[in-house]
Amino acid sequence: MESLTIRRPDDWHLHLRDGDMLRAVAPESRDMGRAIVMPNLVPPVVTHDDARAYRERIVAAGFARPLMTLYLTEGTNPDDVVSAHAAGTITAVKLYPAGATTNSASGVRSIEAVRAVLAAMEAAGVPLCLHGEVTDREIDIFDREARFLDDVLTPLRAAHPELKLTLEHVTTSEAVDWVRAHPGVGATITVQHLLANRNDMLAGGLRPHFYCLPILKRGRHQEALRAAATSGESAFFLGTDSAPHPTHAKEATCCAAGCFTAPIALACYAHVFEEEDALDRLESFASLNGPAHYGLPPNADTVTLTRGAALDLPPRIDTHGQSVTLFDPGHPLHWHIH
Ligand code: NCD
Ligand code: ZN
Ligand code: ZN
Repeated sequence: MESLTIRRPDDWHLHLRDGDMLRAVAPESRDMGRAIVMPNLVPPVVTHDDARAYRERIVAAGFARPLMTLYLTEGTNPDDVVSAHAAGTITAVKLYPAGATTNSASGVRSIEAVRAVLAAMEAAGVPLCLHGEVTDREIDIFDREARFLDDVLTPLRAAHPELKLTLEHVTTSEAVDWVRAHPGVGATITVQHLLANRNDMLAGGLRPHFYCLPILKRGRHQEALRAAATSGESAFFLGTDSAPHPTHAKEATCCAAGCFTAPIALACYAHVFEEEDALDRLESFASLNGPAHYGLPPNADTVTLTRGAALDLPPRIDTHGQSVTLFDPGHPLHWHIH
């Protein structure tokens, strides 16, 4: 297949940041119709008012159709969440276990402390997105997602069976199996977890631009993710987790977690689907399953992908004095988007 026309995709997990960084990266998601925008700013987007104001800054920066989220804290007011959703300001609420990832310090230490918010969301039909990792220092970083499924997600699902859940950036075969075993739960899959495994990050030299959370796992998990993404199953859909950090924060003694993939994300997904001989299922993953999960219509317009010469990509984009380095999969990309 040399050319493919699909409904315009959406990005169901995107970090746009704020200020100069927001203005630099917002236009880079131009291939995407809508995007669920993550609330992990400093300070985080916690209230209805915060979300309204952040939405305006995003639109002014050049991304027209953001879908907003609120950052769940142990002080979150259930009524504020429900009214933000009823007013159409937010699409979902995001749960970060405190300390699990970038800017998660204000997150949740104990599910009991947010029980009233979860119950109100369940009753009002407000979806919950989760960063699915436990944070205990004794638990090996490669096991933190699998432990989250057993220790947190299974009991949460049992206590709130009607709460709409999206398990973000799944990275293990255990997570893929868990999602398959729980109908109605959605899962996003990133570019980097489909294109790479921990060898790409660690063997023959340490590559900081492959470092994100949850951390890249071994090859058999990458294979399980590729199978899930290309299966056509409605639970799995596109969420880049494009997470820009200044180059100096990535190329550092203590490297920040996150891969900046927005400008090449669709070309990367198409690359994976081509390798898996599944280009006919790219539209389900990229453009149909996500809207269906969130109860929204697919985009009315289309994009055309054409296979051609290797893309000529800038290694970095300028962010008004600083720079952000673009994720480099280590091989050429051939899918051009129109
Ligand atoms: C994200 C970020 O930088 O905000 N980083 C990451 O490694 N994925 C946070 C997140 O999605 O966990
Ligand atoms: Zn996360
Ligand atoms: Zn993220």
